[in-house]
Amino acid sequence: FFSYGTKILYQSSDAFQSKFFPPLQKAMLPPNSFQGKVAFITGGGTGLGRGMTTLLSSLGARCVIASRKIDVLRATAEHISSQTGNEVRAVQCDVRDPDMVRSAVSELISVAGLPDVVINNAAGNFISPTERLSPNAWRTITDIVLNGTAFVTLEVGKQLIKAQRGAAFLAITTIYAESGSGFVVPSASAKAGVEALNKSLAAEWGRYGMRFNVIQPGPIKTKGAFSRLDPTGAFEKEMVNRIPCGRLGTVEELANLAAFLCSDYASWINGAVIRFDGGEEVFISGEFNSLQKVTKEQWDTMEELIRKTKGS
Ligand code: HXC
Ligand code: NAP
Repeated sequence: FFSYGTKILYQSSDAFQSKFFPPLQKAMLPPNSFQGKVAFITGGGTGLGRGMTTLLSSLGARCVIASRKIDVLRATAEHISSQTGNEVRAVQCDVRDPDMVRSAVSELISVAGLPDVVINNAAGNFISPTERLSPNAWRTITDIVLNGTAFVTLEVGKQLIKAQRGAAFLAITTIYAESGSGFVVPSASAKAGVEALNKSLAAEWGRYGMRFNVIQPGPIKTKGAFSRLDPTGAFEKEMVNRIPCGRLGTVEELANLAAFLCSDYASWINGAVIRFDGGEEVFISGEFNSLQKVTKEQWDTMEELIRKTKGS
């Protein structure tokens, strides 16, 4: 949960605890860090987007959340607003549609003003062998993830440039945006594009006062992600086994990092891609890391065998 004063704002559904790395659920930044600021969060009605909106709102931001399902957005906006006392607005927008993005950004500006924080969090994904994908399946994922992020970024960016205002942009990608991954190929391809977009604009639009950063989360249990990536629940244990910190991440941990990157405390962080995965990526990529399964007795035997080779 996030505590704001004595109120509990958000209770994570996960009960994962690690002996060595228990998740700290408190807000990291001082109260009012986002007072007077406007934050625009795509996909803010559910999962990680909802968690980031909760924290930003609790730190004083006026938040506007956007996605396709207006009922979900409204329920989230009302819930967060009633807990934090700060206004949260819901705007319907399919990020694949540039006209809808244009009108959503115009509504954002008219109800809350130009944003100081823009979080490109909306995404679509599902696991599937690539040979089973139709052209429309490919287009659906890449449109939401890459084109959606580009349409939102271009639309808001142009308005900011016109008004001579800066902002902090943040995109949520994944660790496989860099490595690639089978079975989520449209998502991997599109998330790689999102990273290129953000790094490119970090270089180009710094002169307009805009910063662009990326977080690559490892697995964090949300209904949206896990229902599409682990529909039977069979992979969760396997995921945890390859995370050196011994557990999945939490929504609250991700929100704290996101809030920091979008805050004035991070005003010199620009063009950064931050891996946030409990060590999963380095574990997967180190070719000897599976030796953690070896028992003490097996090590005794292997050490003896290795020592015997001395001088041979
Ligand atoms: C193969 C599939 C499919 C599946 C859909 N399609 N599901 N193909 N296997 N499981 C195909 C359809 O047949 C169709 O192609 C095309 O994809 C579009 O499907 P629709 O259902 O019409 O799309 P739409 O209603 O727009 O919904 C988009 C969606 C859906 C992506 C399919 O799942 C969604 O709304 N997702 C939003 C939220 C989400 O995905 N969250 C998870 C993010 S997690 P045809 O040819 O038949 O027309 C994430 C984490 C990554 O990214 C890292 C984790 C560690
Ligand atoms: P989620 O709850 O399914 O979030 C996805 C959000 O995107 C939903 O709120 C959805 O709202 C919105 N969305 C989907 N299609 C859209 C469209 N066409 N237009 C506008 N909004 C759209 O899943 P999540 O786990 O919180 O994922 C959030 C982000 O984290 C995603 O970028 C995901 O790739 C990333 N991520 C998650 C994990 C994880 O383990 N959870 C790991 C790495 C990265 P509507 O349905 O209302 O449109």
